[in-house]
Amino acid sequence: MAYIYKAAVIGGGTMGGGIAQVVSHSGLPVIIKDISQDAVDKGIEAAREVYASRVKKGKMTQHEMDQKMALITGTTTYDDFDDVDLVIEAVTERMDVKKAVFAELDKVTPSSCILASNTSALSISELAASTGRPDKVIGMHFFNPAPVMKLVEVIPGLETSEDIINDVMDFTTSLRKLPIRVEECAGFLVNRLLMPFFNEAVYAAQEGAASMEVIDAAVTAAGMPMGPFFLADMLGVDICREVQHVLYEEYGLRMAPATLLERLFEARRFGKKNGAGFYVYNDASETFVAEQIAAVQAETGITGTPFSFDRLLLPMINEAAYALQEKVASPNDIDIAMMAGAGMADTSGPKGPLQIADEMGLDVVLAKLEGLHRVLGERFRPAPLIKRKVRAGHLGVKTGKGFKEYAASLETV
Ligand code: 3HC
Repeated sequence: MAYIYKAAVIGGGTMGGGIAQVVSHSGLPVIIKDISQDAVDKGIEAAREVYASRVKKGKMTQHEMDQKMALITGTTTYDDFDDVDLVIEAVTERMDVKKAVFAELDKVTPSSCILASNTSALSISELAASTGRPDKVIGMHFFNPAPVMKLVEVIPGLETSEDIINDVMDFTTSLRKLPIRVEECAGFLVNRLLMPFFNEAVYAAQEGAASMEVIDAAVTAAGMPMGPFFLADMLGVDICREVQHVLYEEYGLRMAPATLLERLFEARRFGKKNGAGFYVYNDASETFVAEQIAAVQAETGITGTPFSFDRLLLPMINEAAYALQEKVASPNDIDIAMMAGAGMADTSGPKGPLQIADEMGLDVVLAKLEGLHRVLGERFRPAPLIKRKVRAGHLGVKTGKGFKEYAASLETV
């Protein structure tokens, strides 16, 4: 077990600042490094705001906050990196930029230092290959808002050593987060399942199936913590679009990005961070999205398709089945990751997509997917594992076996 006494975060954006807050909260010194002092200051400020809100709510004292904040230092150089034990990279989501950062880190950190990336979807193995220590490179994927969401996906690359994986799992636990090991694949686990849900919401809005407000309300009424448009504006429309492209490149047609998403990206409507995304937070055009929807409908001729919450949920369940059949994670880990990383729930409380599917009945899931496939196309082609389960009579809770196994009491075994 490698001891981690000092950490660093590269990138003072929303995630970098949040991750630095999480690390400092565990009592560890952490450096925030970015290329400009302004970006460094923003990262430190983001951490300070989280603590200040806790002080305001009486959850910690000003003295405790000052002690935690004293653990965070900011820099624009690598001068203090000669004794760091772990670096978490959280820079812009571009492979060329990240590779350049990893190559630099390889030079300035001790050879024993673990190099982790908070990438949303890019290849850990490719990043590792830009260093001379691929055995010590790993994905440590936090979820937004990092100070709140419990999950950290731990993603080994092809050459990451078992020791490093164990160290990072332990380190994540020491941050009071929940580590789940995920086998490397495009989008890893949570983004791979969440983005098809979001992308389908964009298709539904673009095709006039329902308005963004109606879709967001339907999603929260179903028990989820946030509507997809509200969530995308929080995460960044640019980030969602980037992840959707990574998924499309890897998995093909079932991940084809909705045109409306492209239009927002092209117009730099990135969400809350720059004042306007699907919704408007500044004086940007209130009618932009409606105009784009009309334009896309005129171009495609596709309008008036049906809307139901199932239309969004089924692509997520289907993708969970693909991930399961590829052994990206176990059924329990898939459900826990979606609960801890994206607040997944139904009206009865926290619940993952496989559990929801098992309760719905896999024969029902398959029939619904086939129905949507007929009307809406390739995004709904059922995963082979679902068909296989149905053929075997593994229909979910009602037969005691589905994606998971159930005792007579309906408890998950
Ligand atoms: N930063 C820090 N703390 C925050 C915060 C933020 N941005 N937003 C909310 N919080 C804190 C609040 O202060 C509050 O803290 P408290 O319990 O100490 O009082 C707590 O979170 C709960 O907040 P609220 O009561 O205001 O609101 P909610 O109960 O609705 O919870 C939420 C907010 C936790 C963000 C919840 O809406 C949620 O789980 N949303 C889903 C978020 C999600 O899906 N994230 C993952 C997206 S995918 C991703 O990040 C991957 C990336 O690669 C794209």
